[in-house]
Amino acid sequence: MQLNPAVQSIAVSPISAAYAHLPHRSGDQDLLDLSQAAPAYPTAPVIAQRIAEVAGQPDGGKYAPLYGLPSLREAFAAELAHDYRAVVRPDRTMIVAGCNQAFCSVTSALASPGDEIIISSPFYFNHHMWLEAQRFVPRYLQLWSEDPVGEATELLSDRTRALVLVTPGNPTGAILDPATIDRFADLCERNNIALIIDETYRNFRGTDEPAHQAFSRAHWDRTVISLHSFSKDLAIPGYRVGAIVGGAAMLNEVGKIQDCVAISAPRVGQEATLTGLVDAGEWRKEQTDRIFQSLLSFRTMMADRPGGFELVQSGAFFGWVRHPFGDRSTDDVVRDLIVQHDVLTIPGSAFTPEDQGFLRFSFANLDPASFGDLAQRLARLS
Ligand SMILES: Cc1ncc(COP(=O)(O)O)c(C=O)c1O
Repeated sequence: MQLNPAVQSIAVSPISAAYAHLPHRSGDQDLLDLSQAAPAYPTAPVIAQRIAEVAGQPDGGKYAPLYGLPSLREAFAAELAHDYRAVVRPDRTMIVAGCNQAFCSVTSALASPGDEIIISSPFYFNHHMWLEAQRFVPRYLQLWSEDPVGEATELLSDRTRALVLVTPGNPTGAILDPATIDRFADLCERNNIALIIDETYRNFRGTDEPAHQAFSRAHWDRTVISLHSFSKDLAIPGYRVGAIVGGAAMLNEVGKIQDCVAISAPRVGQEATLTGLVDAGEWRKEQTDRIFQSLLSFRTMMADRPGGFELVQSGAFFGWVRHPFGDRSTDDVVRDLIVQHDVLTIPGSAFTPEDQGFLRFSFANLDPASFGDLAQRLARLS
């Protein structure tokens, strides 16, 4: 058979590539796994209990409604209204099988092959993989320049269909301020393109202040599409639940794609999410506070630049770290870290169009008690 060259040409997920190093570890120390950004802790007991209950019910395994359980859409809209201090109606939300599916469905509803989508560099690797697989053309925005909105303006063409922001960012953890997001929304509105905001890590910002004011803009839903994940927040990545918040016309098209791809987000995951939103508030806060404290300890540890590794940006689950070996490829540094010192990281080259000498550390995977050990291993890398 002949395979689709657009799909063949994209690299496999860097997470799988990282795990392929594991058999080569020296193995004489514990593994410090800083690769995948998944909660290292189990979900809340009340959520686990609800999953078991739903699994035992006669309709527990049935399809759910295309746009999600009405009770969950209502609870999620209420949470958004509270968190963003804005009016968000349940019919502006759609429950999908995770934030990755949200991104894929939304971009497919917006763009045709050859259309351009602006993504910030470093980008989230799955976004980039999807754009390439669909033959959408990624245009790279230097988000951390002096004038990011001016840079984005330069990238616009008559093929541009969307501009994508991820805040807090993956791989950098960096958080965009509401005023900058608003300026991006102005730009997108003026040019009749979508502003997609991936907010997977919004509850790991270390503050309850609204992440942006986009939902308070007049006619916000003609421009803004906000994507959410319950994987990290509720520690249920395997139950596959995320959400899209946006306008009716866009959601109508996304509904067709969801119908073909997932039919519905898993019912058991949606019930678990509803319980998480309604009954696990205290547990969620404990986890997010703990991870924020862990971020502060990680920053303190990295302030001494162990082994010359420099923490350039950080937040949510991530540290974006420049390695000191200018004469070596980042892939080599990643391999040496795991082979010599049992430290598993992701090369930054998975998140940028070319190797810029960075690594991504998902520090939130580790108990902060291991940070000293990590520093020593980094210092010993030769
Ligand atoms: C920025 C970003 N978006 C989306 C996802 C995927 O989330 P989900 O598990 O909800 O599909 C991740 C997971 O790592 C992520 O980092």
